[in-house]
This record gives sequence, structure tokens and C-alpha cells, in this order.
Amino acid sequence: TPDATAPVPPATGCPVGRPDLFTWEFAADPYPAYAWLREHAPVHRTALPSGVEAWLVTRYGDARQALADARLSKNPVHHSEAAHGKGKVGIPGERSANLMTHLLNIDPPDHTRLRRLVSKAFTPRRVAAFAPRVQELTDRLIDSFAAKGEADLIHEFAFPLPIYAICDLLGVPPEDQDDFRDWAGMMIRHGGGPRGGVARSVKKMRGYLAELIHRKRETLGATPAPDEDLISGLIRASDHGEHLTENEVAAMAFILLFAGFETTVNLIGNGVYQLLRHPAQRELLQKSIEADDGDLLATGIEELLRYDGPVELATWRFATEDLTLGGQRIAEGDPVLVVLAAADRDPARFADPDVLDLTRRDNQHLGYGHGIHYCLGAPLARLEGQTALATLLTRLPDIRLAAEVADLRWRGGLIMRGLRSLPVQFTPE
Ligand code: HEM
Repeated sequence: TPDATAPVPPATGCPVGRPDLFTWEFAADPYPAYAWLREHAPVHRTALPSGVEAWLVTRYGDARQALADARLSKNPVHHSEAAHGKGKVGIPGERSANLMTHLLNIDPPDHTRLRRLVSKAFTPRRVAAFAPRVQELTDRLIDSFAAKGEADLIHEFAFPLPIYAICDLLGVPPEDQDDFRDWAGMMIRHGGGPRGGVARSVKKMRGYLAELIHRKRETLGATPAPDEDLISGLIRASDHGEHLTENEVAAMAFILLFAGFETTVNLIGNGVYQLLRHPAQRELLQKSIEADDGDLLATGIEELLRYDGPVELATWRFATEDLTLGGQRIAEGDPVLVVLAAADRDPARFADPDVLDLTRRDNQHLGYGHGIHYCLGAPLARLEGQTALATLLTRLPDIRLAAEVADLRWRGGLIMRGLRSLPVQFTPE
């Protein structure tokens, strides 16, 4: 893995030969390398920084097909290296077993059952009812730095907003939410492997969630209260008499936190960053927000997701049999990583893919995935993204970058794409 303190050189043009992947230069701007792969090696076997070998899928058509292919399992037992006891794939905390039997690690029929049950509790209606709370959180966070005239938008805004939002939604009491903030901070800083601090944070989170769920189950009334939280909703969710076990509720709460946190941090971070780099687009959006016509905000968020989305690579998949993808033979047990960021810039699917166009309408991007694992939290992500951008541009209308682009640091993790910090300046409120 590259040294986190190394300076990031300015982005280069399209590489002529095979590009180096997973360097710091690549983390700062992976798109030229992905363009090369799409053209010359669309299904490409490579060694990841962890040493694991995996196939990278970079064309839109292949990516969409792979995401919906039932022969590609989400269950790590299908990984050939795992079968030989040396598997190193994984997300933080993988070894703390119980929380890991969640939606992104399982296949049908278990996936179908769990997804159906959680969908009963995590409904679009619940998310829509949450809108005033997201607005309140957004304003409170902006209040905390608006008088300074400067801020680090990642640490002071994009990072805390989703963690408090998900805690509220789940029903974590306000006095405990700062603990979650600390645990999540540990995971985002050291994500990528179940090392020391991350494993400890996951353990604490697991202990806390188990106790919270137990408490809520004990006090659950016979009929749902109108403002019932999501954990209570999950406990109550039933399908043909089936309920989630306490462990399944804990794993579900964990995946909602885990999947809904860093993604949203990066949606806000990458989104604001790209708007600040594209003044004409930003002005267009600002005018549309002033005129209170929500249209451009809606298409704009989708375009920001396509152009520089939070999830660079979809999470792991493993071939359960020998198969062919994009003309390439993939052996049983091989890991397959679908590169959403590459697919979403494929000129075979998108006109002028390297142009940020907030008015783009033909925009069936893969930023939220595709198929049965399509993002469960997309309505919440859209709500948070739209509220965050609209409120920032309204309250801090002259917000601007306070650093050279070349000095900005990207996290350089495998799955997510996001900035370490985003210094901005503005006229104090
Ligand atoms: C799945 C992206 C926000 C919960 C996914 C997947 C993607 C994704 C690409 C599929 C991964 C794969 O197939 O390997 C995003 C983006 C977000 C976002 C770009 C923000 C902009 C959220 C939020 C939540 C959430 C806010 C919940 C609070 C989930 C869950 C899954 C998922 C539970 C697993 C679904 C399943 O396996 O059935 N997300 N996500 N996500 N997301 Fe999101």
C-alpha cells in the first residue's frame, strides 16, 4: 500500500503502456488507467495491494452482467484462497464472525429472505419522513463552522452527517452517538483490513448493538409506535411468521452503518469537490436551487455519482464455477471485482463520459450497483446528498477550494474513493 504521507503528483494524461494500479498517483486520478484497461484489457487479472489476485471488470456491459450473474457469489467461502486457508479478502472486522453474515456476504435464498425482511422496516416512507431531521442535522453542522470562514468539509461536515443520521434512524440514543462517531472514525481511517484498532472498534460496536437490541426487544409494545426506530422495526419485521434473530438484527444494523457511512461521506466530499472544480456547472446548480426547482439537484446528484462516485469497486464476488466474462475465462474460486468507476465512464454507454453534465438524463449509472444487491440505502443517500449540497450552496454561496488540487490527498482504499480532507473558504455567516 502506498505511503499515506507521500505527496500526490499531479494527474497525468492517458497512459500509453499498461498503467500501474494502486499507486498514489492512481488514487488521485484512476480514470486514465481505467480508460486504458477498458480498451486494452477489459477483464484484467491483477495482484491487489493485499497480494490477492483478482479480476477487474471495467466495461459497462460486462460490469452490469457480472453484477447480476448468479454464478458470482458474495459468500467468501467460494474464494479459492479461502478454501486453502490463506484467504486475505475482507472488510474491516471480518474475523469478528457474527456481524459478517449480512446482505453483502450472502446469496439467495438467505439473501432473499433477509432483504425482504429489512425492506419492510427500511421503507422509502420511513426515509421520506426523516427529511426534516436530516435538514436539522445539516444546519447544526454548518452552524458549527459557518462563522469561521473556513472549514475542512470532510471532518466537520461530510463525516459526521451520515453517522449521526444513521444512528438516529436506527434508534441509537443521542448520548451514545459520539461513541459511534469514534468507532466509525477508526474504521474509515484504517479501513481495508481487520487490524488492531479497527477490530477493537468493531468489537465495541458489536457489544453495544447486542445490548441495545436486547433492551429494545424487552420494551417493544404490541403495536408499532408511529415514530418507531429502525432497530425496533427490524425486530418487529415478520414475513410468513418468520422473524430476524437478534444476531441477524445486529448484523443488519452493522451493515446499514457500514454501507451507509463512508459511502455518504464520499458522496458529499467528491460531490462538493467536483462542483468546486466545475464553476459553470456549480453556477447552474446554484441558480436552480435559488429558484427552488428541485430538478437539477436530482439529476445533478446522479451525475456526480456517475462522474466521481463513492464506490470505486463493487464489493467482492467469487466464481462458483468456471465461466466466461467479456471473452475471458475465469476459474472457479477466482475473485471478481467490478470497477463501477470505470464502467460509469464507458464511452460505449455514456455520451462524453468524461464531461460532468448535471443535466444528463440518460444516466443509468452503476454507482449504486445493480441486481439483487442494488443499494438498499439509495433513497437515504439521495436525501442526504441533496440536503447537504443544497444547504451548503445556499448558506455558503461563495464557498471555494482552499488548497491546490495537487495537494489534496485521496484515501487510496480498494473499494471506496474519497478525499482525506477538503479545505474550503467562504464569507463567514
Ligand atoms: C449496497 C453504493 C449509501 C446500505 C450497495 C452497493 C453499492 C452501494 C454500489 C452494491 C455493492 C455490491 O453489489 O457489491 C452506495 C452509495 C451510497 C450508498 C454510492 C451513497 C451515496 C448507502 C446508505 C445505506 C446503504 C446510506 C444505508 C443506510 C446498503 C446496503 C447494501 C448496499 C445494506 C447491501 C444490499 C444487498 O446486498 O442487498 N450500496 N450506497 N448504502 N448499500 Fe449502499
